[in-house]
Amino acid sequence: MVKAVVAGASGGIGQPLSLLLKLSPYIDELALYDVVNSPGVAADLSHISTKAKVTGYLPADDGLKAALTGADVVVIPAGIPRKPGMTRDDLFNINAGIVRDLITGIALYAPSAFILIISNPVNSTVPIAAEVLKKHGVFDPKKLFGVTTLDVVRSETFTAAVVGKPDPSVFKIPVVGGHSGDTIVPLLSLSEPKVEISGSDRDALVHRIQFGGDEVVQAKEGKGSATLSMAHAGFRFVDSILKAVAGETGVVENTFVYLSGIPGGDAVKSIIPGLDFFSVPVELGPSGAVKVINVLSQVSEYEKGLLEVAYTGLAANIKKGVDFIVGAP
Ligand code: NAD
Ligand code: LMR
Repeated sequence: MVKAVVAGASGGIGQPLSLLLKLSPYIDELALYDVVNSPGVAADLSHISTKAKVTGYLPADDGLKAALTGADVVVIPAGIPRKPGMTRDDLFNINAGIVRDLITGIALYAPSAFILIISNPVNSTVPIAAEVLKKHGVFDPKKLFGVTTLDVVRSETFTAAVVGKPDPSVFKIPVVGGHSGDTIVPLLSLSEPKVEISGSDRDALVHRIQFGGDEVVQAKEGKGSATLSMAHAGFRFVDSILKAVAGETGVVENTFVYLSGIPGGDAVKSIIPGLDFFSVPVELGPSGAVKVINVLSQVSEYEKGLLEVAYTGLAANIKKGVDFIVGAP
């Protein structure tokens, strides 16, 4: 029996993500938590004739505890999105506290659940989550994931457009680093199938993948950021976890993780200067992340340059998240 929880279920991402999860053959129970409207969203989804039993919870009457108790997977898209002109880091002041409080609930009521963090800034909210879980003595690096799948989805779509392939889903392209602007590093040199894109075409493609989120924020003109493509990407990640839990082998997703504590993580840590968290391709198994796949040893000189830029931004974002919980020195 698999219980999945969406925290932030009434929002722009939460609703379509919950719809996709309701359609999953792996999920028996789907609990929707939000500060508004979650019973309504749950009532609506509950009429769909698939097996998952859907329930909705608000904060009143210990709703967070009721939603989380018995959870196997918790996905968190709770928090405010960007408007034009904002960076993801501008969301920190509000979203850091939201994530801290939800993770505290998970530490208390669902300490062995897989935790998938969508709320921005992911580069900081995942370190916040790790520190809260550490404080409660329940941190398992193999089960905490920053969801960077949308960067991978974009890299597949935009690369296919550049090389004129009709079906983007044939591509496998590692996207490493973090989830904001130039901390997002697509490794086009490792694309499968191989692509030959160079010079200004390559630069433009990399830039589009790094700043794809801005495209949506601008097109929505103040009404939020990516929701539907993010729901797809979040569902893809949950689906991969549940496939691995069900015994499928060779399931790999790129995700922002705490490298130490995952086999293979220290090999990547020895390449990147002093960063505990990094998005990398990770093989998933029944217990979560079973192996970090070290793609960094194979990157091109151009990509080494991109990585150098990413390290600086990431270090600051990670420190900000950690300091929020452990206190700035
Ligand atoms: P939204 O405003 O439409 O929805 C957010 C939901 O969170 C709302 O329903 C709100 O009521 C709820 N919420 C607020 N505080 C809460 C709390 N304490 N507990 C539970 N729920 C709470 O926003 P959205 O467009 O769905 O985006 C959500 C977040 O996801 C944003 O931070 C956004 O930047 C981020 N995001 C991340 C990615 C990614 O690739 N990781 C992609 C897109 C968006
Ligand atoms: C995205 O990449 O679309 C999200 O992180 C939302 C945003 O703020 O751009």
